Amino acid sequence: MSTKTLKTNKTSLMGEIKVPGDKSISHRAVMFGSIAEGTTRIENFLPGEDCLSTISCFRKLGVEIIQNGSEVTVKGNGIDGLKPPEETLYVGNSGTTIRLMMGILSGLPFESRLEGDESIARRPMTRVTSPLSKMGARIDGRNSGEFTPLIVVGGKLSGITYQLPVASAQVKSAILLAGLQAEGDTVVLEPVKTRDHTERMIKQFGGKVEREGDAVKVAGGQGLKAADINIPGDISSAAFFLVAGAVVPGSEIVLKNVGLNPTRTGIIDVLEAMGANITIEPYDQDAAEPAGDITIKYSKLNATTIEGNLIPRLIDEIPVIALLATQAEGKTVIKDAGELKVKETNRIDTVVNELRKLGANIEATEDGMIVYGQQDLFGDTVSAHGDHRIGMMLSIAALLCKKDVVLEQSEAVAVSYPGFFDDLYSLVQE
Ligand code: S3P
Repeated sequence: MSTKTLKTNKTSLMGEIKVPGDKSISHRAVMFGSIAEGTTRIENFLPGEDCLSTISCFRKLGVEIIQNGSEVTVKGNGIDGLKPPEETLYVGNSGTTIRLMMGILSGLPFESRLEGDESIARRPMTRVTSPLSKMGARIDGRNSGEFTPLIVVGGKLSGITYQLPVASAQVKSAILLAGLQAEGDTVVLEPVKTRDHTERMIKQFGGKVEREGDAVKVAGGQGLKAADINIPGDISSAAFFLVAGAVVPGSEIVLKNVGLNPTRTGIIDVLEAMGANITIEPYDQDAAEPAGDITIKYSKLNATTIEGNLIPRLIDEIPVIALLATQAEGKTVIKDAGELKVKETNRIDTVVNELRKLGANIEATEDGMIVYGQQDLFGDTVSAHGDHRIGMMLSIAALLCKKDVVLEQSEAVAVSYPGFFDDLYSLVQE
């Protein structure tokens, strides 16, 4: 495990960054390419550890995948062409890989074993295994299917209508991927709209999916055809620079080609609500996944409340939003975000504990946190706790700290952003 001394006490960040490809879309592009007929070409794929886990799993299912940095070619054989794996499908730290793959494996007539790292072993799986079992898959795991290792025995599936108990794009996507292989229609009802990359990608691969209000419907027995996929930059990675630019005095940062899918842009709403100086130049509005350039400049910020339908639109950004709130005048309340407890770490606890070490005035609540700003930050030894987004958030926090900050487990950032420190420190004015 590596320890890194972070840059501290900075006066400004200046320059331009092109953040790497979107993680959610990169996973899906490999998965859809693998189950489609024909050759799929992916540009601006995210070569982070999580998405490489997805490639490794599909290779074990017999798919030929050529990866060269951010360019990937997937030679799909159609879903019936996937082969029984000879070894465990190892998903590393990636919840998206394991949950979405279960949807695919549920319809295939063989047994697979799925396992990941110690964080994956703590993450709840019944939310996925329960609907997939109702469709006809046999899935076993530790604690009656709640935890890894999981064994999936797929087979004939029947479509279902399923009300999601939690707002989760991973659960919705797993059910839709199973639904594409089932007999009859499958309908997923969402309590709150979550990211819709799966729905968009079904269409890009020539399939049909309909949305009506809270309901997303797919017909079973649909074959998919290969596609060319150009992945926009990940707004969840851009979020670290958006916050850095907003809070480090004197900064001005331009972020190129950032994904602007409205199910993901909650961080922009929060920055605007706080009074940040942010401008957006969108590209083609009709693209399968919208994108654009974002410029952020330092300004004074005010506290806000973050709740309800906004939460799924910024769920992965809450660690860095907590940091943002330490620099906003007043009391910022984050609620309705109990899902944070079952992310890569319990992100309510890790955010609160680590930011407190740096002097933040922040408290945990049952479903979120309360942050009092504006608060000067100092310095200490902090830890990413194996969680990429905690590591990156703390590295941005350090820029404001008046004393040395040492980050333990800094290697975690490679899960979603291998070049994070190079990009960040290219903006620092020495
Ligand atoms: C993701 C959905 C979200 C998000 C995760 C990626 C996806 O998880 O936190 O980082 O790609 O579908 P949930 O669906 O569990 O909310």
